Amino acid sequence: VTCVACHGQEGIAAAPQWPNLAGQHASYLTVALEQYKDGSRVDLVMNPLMLPLDDAAIEELAAFFASQPHLHNTAQ
Ligand code: HEC
Repeated sequence: VTCVACHGQEGIAAAPQWPNLAGQHASYLTVALEQYKDGSRVDLVMNPLMLPLDDAAIEELAAFFASQPHLHNTAQ
């Protein structure tokens, strides 16, 4: 899937306008993706991306990003 171009290979986004997905709860990600699919959450990028996905694909994506380690903003 092309999600990683914006949200990063491990869910850490490449640019600040794209949200980090790593370590978010799978249930939160599933709801967000379903809202983009049914149009109750509007984003020009995300809405068309979700249209071809079925519930199983959405749950798989949510589970994948939820399982990635969260990025902590700790100063080195
Ligand atoms: C071209 C860049 C781009 C691509 C590709 C992309 N996204 Fe996004 N995504 C965004 C942007 C921008 C937002 C924030 C939109 C908003 O404010 O609602 C977002 C929001 C999200 C959110 C909501 C995050 C939150 O914290 O509310 C999820 C979940 C998500 N994307 C998952 C995916 C998945 C899964 C894919 C692959 C099928 C994908 N994205 C592909 C740019 C992208």
